[in-house]
Amino acid sequence: MGRNGNSRLAGTTAEVVEAAYRRGREVAANGRVASYIPELARADPAQVGLALHELGGSPVLAGDAEQAFTLQSVSKALALACVSAAGVDPYERMSAEPSGDSFHSIVRLEEEHGRPRNPLINAGAIIVSGLLPGATPNDKIGAFLQFLDRCSGGASYIIDDAVYQSERRTGYRNRALAHYMKHFGVLEDPDTAVDTYFRQCAVRVTAAQLARLSLFLANDGTDPLTGEQILSPDLNRQVLAVMMTCGLYDEVGRFALEVGLPAKSGVSGGILAIVPGRCSIASYAPALGPRGNSLAGMQMLRDLSEAWDLSVFAPVTAGPGG
Ligand code: DON
Repeated sequence: MGRNGNSRLAGTTAEVVEAAYRRGREVAANGRVASYIPELARADPAQVGLALHELGGSPVLAGDAEQAFTLQSVSKALALACVSAAGVDPYERMSAEPSGDSFHSIVRLEEEHGRPRNPLINAGAIIVSGLLPGATPNDKIGAFLQFLDRCSGGASYIIDDAVYQSERRTGYRNRALAHYMKHFGVLEDPDTAVDTYFRQCAVRVTAAQLARLSLFLANDGTDPLTGEQILSPDLNRQVLAVMMTCGLYDEVGRFALEVGLPAKSGVSGGILAIVPGRCSIASYAPALGPRGNSLAGMQMLRDLSEAWDLSVFAPVTAGPGG
């Protein structure tokens, strides 16, 4: 994987990925799986998977990289890409600022007249779900699944109905957010938006699939394997910028310090991280730390970033002064 960091992890790409995975397995024991959506509590906290896909290479997998899990909040970054690809500007209805609050915070909505802080917290993501192409939740989720298929060069994805139903039965806070935004006129159809949101969170993927389908994000908007342009470079950079500043909730600053990559996490234990111009990395490890991010996932990304000096804040090697 090129550029070398100062790490105790060294060797071939496969050896570094394997070593990061083994360390991830050790730290997973200190975390706890999410249980506020009852179906998520069934996950096995010992599972740890890691997938790295270089732009021009084949995937490198370790551990449970082919174990299916539901996207949960990782879907927010992908739905944002989908809406952007459809030519819709979500920032007409929301800001692009980190919130510093928990992912389902409602407090700031009151202060900011129903305008969410960014598209990666629940309020903003619910608006984005409502902006997916189509009129009904069925149409919208169909458009989202089709988008994911396209990003994968033709794989197909399904919704985990048990997880969807479980969130539908318990997701009153998200309904409250949606109806509150309706009150302010920021969202037209709260029920459609929130039902679409529940379904997009329940899309099943594996870490290997997630790394593959997000390659376009690492390649300035174009899938390097099919050559298809998914997003313009400008829009692709916008998605990465908002992942960098808002993708890990109130742990995003620490992650920028320690890993230095745009990323998006979810409560089922997935994390997607993008190394622009090089690769995408997806991890799955459902045991979460105190701030709701996957403990092993965070550790593995710290290790990989250190091993290969992946931070986007490392000096560029070409350009003015380069
Ligand atoms: O809104 C929810 O509760 C979930 N469907 C998604 C939340 C989530 O993954 C937040 N993550 N870190």
